[in-house]
Amino acid sequence: MTDQTALIPNPVAQAADRTNARKVFIKTYGCQMNVYDSVRMGDALASEGYVTTDTAEDADLVLLNTCHIREKAADKVYSALGRLRDMKKERNAEGRELMIGVTGCVAQAEGEEILRRSSAVDVVIGPQTYHRLPQALKRARQGERVVDTDYAVEDKFEHLPVPDKKVIRSRGVTSFLTVQEGCDKFCTFCVVPYTRGSEVSRPLAQILDEANKLVDAGVREITLLGQNVNAWHGTGLDGSSWGLGDLLYRLAEIPGLARLRYTTSHPRDMDDRLIEAHRDLRALMPYLHLPVQAGSDRVLKAMNRRHTAEEYVRLIERIRAARPDIALSGDFIVGFPGETDAEFEDTLKLVETVRYAQSFSFKYSTRPGTPGAELGSQVAEEVKAERLERLQALLLKQQLEFAESCVGKVIDILLEKPGRMPEQLIGRSPWLQSVNVDAKSSQIGDIISVRIVGTGPNSLFAERIER
Ligand code: 5AD
Ligand code: SF4
Repeated sequence: MTDQTALIPNPVAQAADRTNARKVFIKTYGCQMNVYDSVRMGDALASEGYVTTDTAEDADLVLLNTCHIREKAADKVYSALGRLRDMKKERNAEGRELMIGVTGCVAQAEGEEILRRSSAVDVVIGPQTYHRLPQALKRARQGERVVDTDYAVEDKFEHLPVPDKKVIRSRGVTSFLTVQEGCDKFCTFCVVPYTRGSEVSRPLAQILDEANKLVDAGVREITLLGQNVNAWHGTGLDGSSWGLGDLLYRLAEIPGLARLRYTTSHPRDMDDRLIEAHRDLRALMPYLHLPVQAGSDRVLKAMNRRHTAEEYVRLIERIRAARPDIALSGDFIVGFPGETDAEFEDTLKLVETVRYAQSFSFKYSTRPGTPGAELGSQVAEEVKAERLERLQALLLKQQLEFAESCVGKVIDILLEKPGRMPEQLIGRSPWLQSVNVDAKSSQIGDIISVRIVGTGPNSLFAERIER
């Protein structure tokens, strides 16, 4: 699981065209799982007559779908709630309603505390109970302040309405599909096992059904999501036990589904079948987000990552042998308690060895309730800042080198959205880069061949070629 929302357009906001309908604005923080959940919350509310809007000013209901992964992420929620409280006061003075809900991981972690700290909040709903949002809102409208953060006994996915084809297609030609939630790995810095609970895989039939519906509506690329997605397991069509590799082989058979991705993986769960899927499946894009967090074996052990730096590097070699053009992405934490200068240098060495095309790196942030928070020898803030700067400089250099290495290549891109210029479209490379191209006769959803002719700060430029 990682913060990659900057790379992916938020598919929730669709123009609200039914003027009398109640409007909901959903603000999404954090990882792709939250982006997916926000879409599904929109579905749950649509069946109650809500339409989505993309501004809080326009909304009758504002939901903050929150992230608790680092301290700053949670702080952002409380400052947003401060602004919403003022907005609610103004609205109420005009005799208009504004309801406010907090959902996601801060809701799960803080529950009642949110009501105490923020008088404007009407409902607090955890990640496992958002199918009950409509009922919670009804109760709130009768004056109750609702907290629903149980781990629901029923499966929320069974209770969420499926939108019709037009609505699915209006969200774009790429889609997320959650296949797994929660985590049993208990890395010592991480709140996920506490906020999202223990690892649960969605059943195969449910996943295939959702994937078929997406493709039927015109979706060309599906990204399978899970906090620990490659821990997915289920009973296969033949009754045997299946892992993520088997699931990918099956999904690749769906006619019309051109591209598959998955995120986020743990190195310990990269099994042979999954590596074979990278070798065999044309639809499986050559891009893998495989967090390592640190390069020192002592730090990895203290983080409870359950692998050494050497094992990670060997694993990458096996994956590259199976799929030589695969681009790698990683997550890194600097300044885990007790990390010495020499141990930090080990992270830089590992990055030099692996070479990443994309990355997400963070200063260690103490999370109450995690084992890391109990450790002495916290690293000073200035030291963390200086290490992060050095690490990010190296990672950025590698990212730019990777982009440069694409220039001159002929590749397929999936056209996703209009560009800034007329007749320009923005597509996605197999390696998840944005690609700008003049593509007059093509439309969104097409996969076209292009030659990469240049690089920009966050994207590539290409010219169309006929094959
Ligand atoms: N401090 C800093 N970064 C963290 N991450 C998770 N927990 C913390 C923390 N306490 C990072 C990890 C993870 C990514 C989603 O966020 O790198 O892979
Ligand atoms: Fe958190 Fe570790 Fe689980 Fe990833 S594998 S969600 S970092 S506990």
